[in-house]
Amino acid sequence: MASHFRSTERQGSEGEEQLQPLAPETAPQVEVTSPDDTGAFLAAGTYEQAEESAEAPAVADVPEAPEAVHVVTASDPADSADAAEQPVTTSVYSSLAGDDSAPAVPRTGTPTVSFKNVTLIYPAQPNKPALDNVSLDIYPGEFVFVVGHSGSGKSSLLRLITRELKASSGQVFVAGQDLTRMRNKKIPYLRRQIGTVYQDFKLLPDKTVYENVAFALECIGKPRSVIKAQVPEVLRLVGLAEKMKHFPDQLSGGEQQRVSVARAMVNRPPLLVCDEPTGNLDPAISLGIMKLLDLINRAGTTVVMATHDREMVDSMRKRVIALEAGHVVRDQEKGGYGYYGAL
Ligand SMILES: Nc1ncnc2c1ncn2[C@@H]1O[C@H](COP(=O)(O)OP(=O)(O)O)[C@@H](O)[C@H]1O
Ligand SMILES: [Mg+2]
Repeated sequence: MASHFRSTERQGSEGEEQLQPLAPETAPQVEVTSPDDTGAFLAAGTYEQAEESAEAPAVADVPEAPEAVHVVTASDPADSADAAEQPVTTSVYSSLAGDDSAPAVPRTGTPTVSFKNVTLIYPAQPNKPALDNVSLDIYPGEFVFVVGHSGSGKSSLLRLITRELKASSGQVFVAGQDLTRMRNKKIPYLRRQIGTVYQDFKLLPDKTVYENVAFALECIGKPRSVIKAQVPEVLRLVGLAEKMKHFPDQLSGGEQQRVSVARAMVNRPPLLVCDEPTGNLDPAISLGIMKLLDLINRAGTTVVMATHDREMVDSMRKRVIALEAGHVVRDQEKGGYGYYGAL
């Protein structure tokens, strides 16, 4: 069992328990600057909020070195009038590109996600498997893009990881647990370990930004003291400290997606699953979201993200798993999108 997944037993009786910092084996050794664990969101990383600056460059504020990850601007630069005038170039994501000389995340120990000969057949399409004999391993700390045409099976693959779907045959493991044999009553505990971000944000319209994020913790029985410490911390991280009292319809699309990232991460899950999180956002705004996901990954969280944003995938040089009609047709370290005909 990967050590950074807290056991379901402990999850089940946590009550007043303070959130423990995740300690992924692969996380960079970095200093924690927050005064205590409760306030130290994603304690494996160092997050510093610099003063808000409208002049901040849109693309150059995430340093290459994982040892010192700074969020230089607290607001979505692309949401500001200044940034809106900046030309969007094809290299907009290149500041987030992995360092080719850096060692890959070591693929040892228990994979965070493991598919073994997984086939998924929807009853409505019995002769056309959505996934066909898929095998793959994703290790702690990896950032993996899942790419492919619409209908190639990306969402199905992600929904197997969260056990929204059950494999028709084969096995799906998350942190060593066999989801194909997992009892239904254990599924909520699995889901606490997995943050999810969707294309359509899925925010509760009648709740404020603060309440949307707090609700995720209330649902799993976190004490008020933890909620009061954790929610402002994560909202600062995503640059929305000033908008805690706003309702979703008072926010831009990019800001709404930041709230949903905050909600996904507030419980510090070791795994983040994102299904086309930038699908509804224009490139400049998508960049802000990708910076956040990159930051979260650099702090040790495993990220699996479905996308068909070719430019982003080509620029960021992360691992790419490509699907075509339910088959893995490519699994490449630091890959690009590849060519699959007209998309
Ligand atoms: N609920 C469903 N019932 C029947 N078929 C489905 C369902 N969801 C997806 N499919 C089919 O499964 C295949 C993969 O879909 P999906 O995983 O949504 O692909 P992607 O996310 O890459 O667009 C497609 O052929 C799609 O039509
Ligand atoms: Mg999909």
